[in-house]
Amino acid sequence: MSAEADKLKTDILAAIAAAEDAAALEAVRVGALGKKGTVSALLKTLGGMSAEERQTNGPLFNALRDAVSEAIAEKKTTIDAAALNARLAEETLDMTLPVATDPQFEGRIHPVSQVMEEIAAIFADMGFDVAEGPDIESGFYNFTALNIPEAHPARQMHDTFYLNAEEDGEALLLRTHTSPVQVRTMQNGQADNSGPPFRFIAPGRTYRCDSDQTHTPMFHQVEGLVVDETTHMGHLKYTLEAFLAAFFEVSDISIRFRPSYFPFTEPSMEIDMPCRRDGDRLIVGEGDDWMEIGGSGMVNPHVLRHACIDADKYQGFAFGMGIDRLAMLKYGAPDLRAFFEADLRWLKHYGFLPIDVPGLAGGLSNKSLAGKPGTGQ
Ligand code: PHE
Repeated sequence: MSAEADKLKTDILAAIAAAEDAAALEAVRVGALGKKGTVSALLKTLGGMSAEERQTNGPLFNALRDAVSEAIAEKKTTIDAAALNARLAEETLDMTLPVATDPQFEGRIHPVSQVMEEIAAIFADMGFDVAEGPDIESGFYNFTALNIPEAHPARQMHDTFYLNAEEDGEALLLRTHTSPVQVRTMQNGQADNSGPPFRFIAPGRTYRCDSDQTHTPMFHQVEGLVVDETTHMGHLKYTLEAFLAAFFEVSDISIRFRPSYFPFTEPSMEIDMPCRRDGDRLIVGEGDDWMEIGGSGMVNPHVLRHACIDADKYQGFAFGMGIDRLAMLKYGAPDLRAFFEADLRWLKHYGFLPIDVPGLAGGLSNKSLAGKPGTGQ
């Protein structure tokens, strides 16, 4: 009998030693000590033995069971420790890896888009709508309706990009200013009965055949138009001053009107804003120098008539400003051409985070990139 027990012991201990993981060890345990296990079966044979036989075999079989249990427990400790070590080795953090950046801090809003949003927020606060028109215009809207008839010298002054002539002989063009949106929006207002009165801005792309440090063939303007029965030049001056103070985030700005000429306004004025130089820095809104930032005037009655508005009843003001120039002045970008080069390094420096939407209540631009997690600044 003891030979059988010895053989069983050798086999089971070999199986325990060979078990590579917890599952294999458990299978060995069930096979030996489980209800139908080999050791359990051997122990059961004690019941059928004589008292004498039991006396010799009992302690032998029990010793076998204890030895097997002990070997299993020992092996289990080894397997568990190995599994833990493997997990620890696998889960170590590589502290030398760069931290993954949050995508919301990766992209940038172009300063021109940012400034357009700021302008829209300020004028929306004053009750202005935002109107749009096509970049490809007809000579009628870009010139004729604005009181610039054919052969008028102002047409040459605009350095217009013309498209190839259509079959009817008319050549479409890339709009040279946002003023055609004045006429289009007034006509639409007449058609759907939404005006007059009108109060809107029209920001967008404009094109002129011109390129140097302060001119690019494509640039951006914002048009403004107010037409009502008693609109006058005082309203225009107040509107521009309120806009500029809000835009440059200063308490107030006094502008200067300089007499000028535009066929679509009468009288016409250039808008000058005070500024001064402080070393290399240009400070706007104060000082003894002046800087031109746009054109303006009272809407010429001819323009109102082209839009089928009763010019004896209605009058208004219009202005046009360069958006890129405003962006350069506010955010200190020296070369206009860089605005359109799509250089990622430039965009990272001058761009804005997409989650910071400009608004008058939350601040137009005070949410700078500085200190934002993941921006590396
Ligand atoms: N359209 C003019 C320009 O581009 C600017 C302007 C707009 C002047 C509205 C007066 C009124 O030069």
